Amino acid sequence: MFRLVHPLAGLLALAIICLFWTATVTVELLGTSAQVAAVKGAIPWGFLILIPALIAIGGSGERLARDRRGRLLSTKQRRMKVIAANGLLVLVPCALWLAASAAQARFDSLFVAVQGLELLAGGLNIALLSLNFRDGLRMTRRWPAK
Ligand code: HEM
Repeated sequence: MFRLVHPLAGLLALAIICLFWTATVTVELLGTSAQVAAVKGAIPWGFLILIPALIAIGGSGERLARDRRGRLLSTKQRRMKVIAANGLLVLVPCALWLAASAAQARFDSLFVAVQGLELLAGGLNIALLSLNFRDGLRMTRRWPAK
């Protein structure tokens, strides 16, 4: 069961963060203020799926790791700590603040700065999740070793 849940939760988390990221960039570049507010208002609801998916990845990953050692595994565990800290300490507060500001049509320079920070933090988590996905496939020999 954990062998199935683990990669599926990984794919789901990656898909959700990529969707948040591309929807944000698209609407900021091409959308109206109302559309920006709609996307910013929808993102916190996505956390109701994203956060359980991240918990499922970590929980199932630790379970699968019980009898394993090695560099790939310890690197994945280190990355997961950064993913979780970045998510809880940067992405969630930024997203909640941006949703509240957009709902009041407050698109000032602070909004732009926080939006930039959120995109950077989101990009970091996309990169780290992708690296963990690749190294998971290396551990099961579905991806060529270095
Ligand atoms: C605490 C963090 C993590 C730990 C301890 C962990 C541990 C593991 C272990 C032990 C395996 C080998 C399973 C087996 O032998 O069948 C594995 C595979 C895998 N992991 Fe992780 N993982 C973690 C995070 C992640 C993340 C964040 C992702 C993706 C976003 C991910 C994606 C995968 C994938 C795709 C596989 C290969 C599954 C397969 O080929 O069947 N892992 N992981």
